[in-house]
Amino acid sequence: HQGWPGLIEAYRDRMPVQDDWKIVTLHEGATPLIAAPVLSEITGCEVYLKVEGLNPTGSFKDRGMTMAVTNAVNNGKKAVLCASTGNTSASAAAYATRAGMTCAVLIPEGKIAMGKLAQAVMHGAQVIQVQGNFDDCLELARKVTAEFTEIELVNSVNPARIEGQKTASFEIVDVLGKAPDIHALPVGNAGNITAYWKGYREYHADGIIDTLPRMLGVQAAGAAPLVNGAPVSDPETIATAIRIGSPASWNQAVAAKDESNGQFRAATDEKILEAYRLVAGREGVFVEPASAASVAGLLAAHEEGWVTPGSTVVCTVTGNGLKDPDTALLGMPKVDAIPVDPVAVARALGVS
Ligand code: F0G
Repeated sequence: HQGWPGLIEAYRDRMPVQDDWKIVTLHEGATPLIAAPVLSEITGCEVYLKVEGLNPTGSFKDRGMTMAVTNAVNNGKKAVLCASTGNTSASAAAYATRAGMTCAVLIPEGKIAMGKLAQAVMHGAQVIQVQGNFDDCLELARKVTAEFTEIELVNSVNPARIEGQKTASFEIVDVLGKAPDIHALPVGNAGNITAYWKGYREYHADGIIDTLPRMLGVQAAGAAPLVNGAPVSDPETIATAIRIGSPASWNQAVAAKDESNGQFRAATDEKILEAYRLVAGREGVFVEPASAASVAGLLAAHEEGWVTPGSTVVCTVTGNGLKDPDTALLGMPKVDAIPVDPVAVARALGVS
């Protein structure tokens, strides 16, 4: 290979892979940590975006999937199954294809963004819509894989997923030369906050960093079980990626928050959309709505005085904005086309 080899090879000494394993990779990882001057100005901090939408299938799930599918194929599994709000299914479908495995995905009927559905279909996954939400889909997937052990469950309850996803923390530290003071990220099924915290703790245990970040986990207000302290039976939010009422990694998320002296917050859809538009419109980074929850949470925590001025802050923006064009174009006024005429262009720009 040339250039970045993918995260398993890059962090091989920290990955649970055997020497003779065939590695399944699309060269995921090495995503940019981009300075966010507008957010920095607003908060009086040094804010960075960890742009996970630049992974091969457009979300952070690829970090977990390279490990989960590598693990599955080298253990003789023939098929992978997942429940998904969209991104996991897109990633599982791509990596399974790469490994020559069959992939099936269970998705909540009508509740996944169009781009994600297109990806799963194009990668040849068997897409099964379920009359239920993500939590129902995951329960179903667990039952199927418990009974049919030749099928591997590749949701974040699969420990290999967490091992892959922890590398995002390594990358951040490798760039900053230290851990951030605060790390904000959206929380749905709570695998990612678990993985980030594991990554930071590993580096800390090995003396690579001497401080740990406070973890700021942000949920959508209509799907905020960790904030409420109880599962939500009917989660609802425009940020469909995190429309989850009963996070599988509940205890690990609480541990990450408590051990890091962190916080869970809820952001309303209105605040999520505000942050979504701010990040695209002022920072030049197009993320999907769920990803903007991290930014909405940071802004609210800042307003509340939770964020010490001068802090180094990383917001993980988990998925690419192109995944969900419908939400991007929501409420856009319909504008008539103009004739092929420079005067008409000038008029449309209001400069005539
Ligand atoms: N952001 C995006 C864009 C996601 O797709 C997800 C989860 C999260 C944040 C939350 O991460 O579940 O580890 O707490 N999406 C899963 C899926 C559930 O099926 O694609 P988490």
